[in-house]
Amino acid sequence: MFEPAITGSGVFTPELSISNDELVVAFNAYADKWNAEHAAEIDAGAAEPMAHSSSEFIVAASGIESRFVLNKDGILDPNAMHPWLPDRAMDEISVMAEMGVDACRKALDMAGVDASEVDAVLCAASNHERAYPAIAIEIQQALGTGGFGFDMNVACSSATFGIQAAADMIRSGSIRKALVVNPEICSAHLEWRDRDCHFIFGDVATAVLIERAEDAKGPHFAIKSTRCATQFSNNIRNNNGFLRRTRDGHMDDRRDMLFMQEGRKVFKEVLPLVSKHIAEHMDDTGVTAGDLKRLWLHQANKTMNDYIGKKVLGRVPEAGEQPNILQDYANTSSAGSIIAFAQYSDDLAPGDTGIICSFGAGYSVGSVIIEKSA
Ligand code: COA
Repeated sequence: MFEPAITGSGVFTPELSISNDELVVAFNAYADKWNAEHAAEIDAGAAEPMAHSSSEFIVAASGIESRFVLNKDGILDPNAMHPWLPDRAMDEISVMAEMGVDACRKALDMAGVDASEVDAVLCAASNHERAYPAIAIEIQQALGTGGFGFDMNVACSSATFGIQAAADMIRSGSIRKALVVNPEICSAHLEWRDRDCHFIFGDVATAVLIERAEDAKGPHFAIKSTRCATQFSNNIRNNNGFLRRTRDGHMDDRRDMLFMQEGRKVFKEVLPLVSKHIAEHMDDTGVTAGDLKRLWLHQANKTMNDYIGKKVLGRVPEAGEQPNILQDYANTSSAGSIIAFAQYSDDLAPGDTGIICSFGAGYSVGSVIIEKSA
């Protein structure tokens, strides 16, 4: 058995961002337009008017202040309310691969590793631009890595499940180096016309390079233990898939073809699941709350993270112990905990222990216990 280690991490952040205020102006214009178009039904009591959204609600309910996006015009156009991401020609790199390659290059640079040394690319994300050929294989070609690549999807937990898969291959010796990459174009599966969730997501790509710890050329994080768990729930669901076509062959414009959730239920049910999962993982590996220097949690909701941090540490986390990035990035699905890790891990000292933990649709939860090494 070989010990795997994270030796590099990288984040691709889109150039464009949308503040809550900009988002709310667009949503409210859309709501006014919808209400005007449905005035007769509303007057007859057959339809409810669409209520306005508010920046104050968004910050108070989620902690989100802004989000990065690949396209801004479409999302903010009350006549469109979705990103404009034109199809690319077959000989052009796909959007997910392009974002992923950028994040992977940063991770490789940090580790001082040439792409040709990499044996596997795992593209782990909650939505994929196409079914096949795998985005991972396109990234493999663009980077010039060897070995193989495949796509996987465990929604918001994709990154930690991908890390476990790669770490297991490195432990067993079947590969020596792997890139786990998480390009998340959440803006394309969000329903921007739904007041309950229009503020939730943003776009980003993250990557980590995992190698045998003995191959690390500099400071790195040894992967001490990984654990994944799932439990079926319909409370976060997206029904878009290749079976969904109408009789005339077109895709439906149904609400269930985009992200849907019962936010309150998710909030209530996922918190105990995650807290218990982390507690048991720590117990079984002999890690105590006192050993933990940092928690890099999934970034969906600030209140949820505050609760989990307090449960895991047995006290209110001090500033910096449980960094949040969701105020700037919103929920970026599987990438959230990796952005937090990439941005807030440099300062840890050799011997310091931390946990990366993601959770979400499935339900799913994945935790990775890591220790800094010089
Ligand atoms: N602007 C203003 N008011 C809004 C609003 C908006 N955009 N959206 C909802 N509201 C209102 C509701 O109508 C409701 O009003 P009412 O009490 O008069 O009925 C009230 O605010 C509360 O709505 P609710 O949906 O219950 O809010 P919440 O406090 O549960 O927060 C979430 C919503 C989505 C932020 C929260 O439930 C959450 O984060 N859940 C977990 C989500 C998660 O982790 N999902 C995983 C995704 S991968």
